[in-house]
Amino acid sequence: GGRELAGQMMDALQPVLVFAAAEVVICPPFTLLQHLWELTEGSPVSLGAQNVYHQNSGAFTGEVSPPMLLEWGLKWCIVGHSERRSLCGETDDLVRQKAASLLQHDIQPIICVGETLEQREAGKHEDVVTRQLRHALTGLNADDQRLCVIAYEPIWAIGTGKTASPDQANKMHGLIRRELVELSSERIASEVRILYGGSVNAANAKDLLGQPEIDGALVGGASLKIHEFPSITAAAG
Ligand code: PGA
Repeated sequence: GGRELAGQMMDALQPVLVFAAAEVVICPPFTLLQHLWELTEGSPVSLGAQNVYHQNSGAFTGEVSPPMLLEWGLKWCIVGHSERRSLCGETDDLVRQKAASLLQHDIQPIICVGETLEQREAGKHEDVVTRQLRHALTGLNADDQRLCVIAYEPIWAIGTGKTASPDQANKMHGLIRRELVELSSERIASEVRILYGGSVNAANAKDLLGQPEIDGALVGGASLKIHEFPSITAAAG
C-alpha cells in the first residue's frame, strides 16, 4: 500500500539526499499527506499537493483550499497538470486563478504546460505552450512570477514511455525562458525554474537534466520505483 511504499521510499532517498544538491519535492495524493508529513519532518524533502481549489473558503464540498494546504505545511502545489486540463475541464483561466490564490498563501505553484501529439505534428506546439504560459502568469507581480516553477510536459510523453528528446525539450525550455523575459524580465526569467516532465526515468534523466535550459524534472511513474527515484534525484544534483 501507499504508506509502506512511502516509508521505503524515504529510506531509499536518505543517502541520496545527503549528497544531492537537488531540491526534492514530493507531491503525493491527499490521502498520503499526513503520513508523508511525519516521515519528511526535519528532512530536506518538501511536500506539495497535486491540485488545489482556487477559493479560500465557501461551499465547495470535496475541494481543498490553499489555507487547508497550509495546515499540512505544504510549500508547493502542482496546477494545470494535463490530466486535470483534459479530464477535469481545467482551463487556462482556472490555472491562473489557482496559481494566484496559492501565491497569496506563499505556496509555490508548479505550473504545467504542454502540447498534444496532434498539436506538435501540426507545428502548433510553440503557440500552445506560449498561450498556456502567458495565461498563467499574466497579472502576477514580479515577486510572484519569480516563485512560480514551470513544468514543460508534452502530453504525448506523459506515462507513455516516450520522452521528448533532450534537444526537443531544451528547445521548448528555451522558448519558455524567452517568453518569461517578455512577460517579466531577464532577471526573473533566469531565476524561474523550468522542469521537464514526461517519462523521465533513471536511464534518461542525466541526458535531459544535462541540457542547459532544463533545471529539473517532474517525475510521475518512475517516482514510485524504489531504486529509480533516488538515482533520478542523484542525476539532478
Ligand atoms: P510520467 O508522468 O513521468 O509517468 O510520464 C509525468 C506526469 O504525470 O506529470
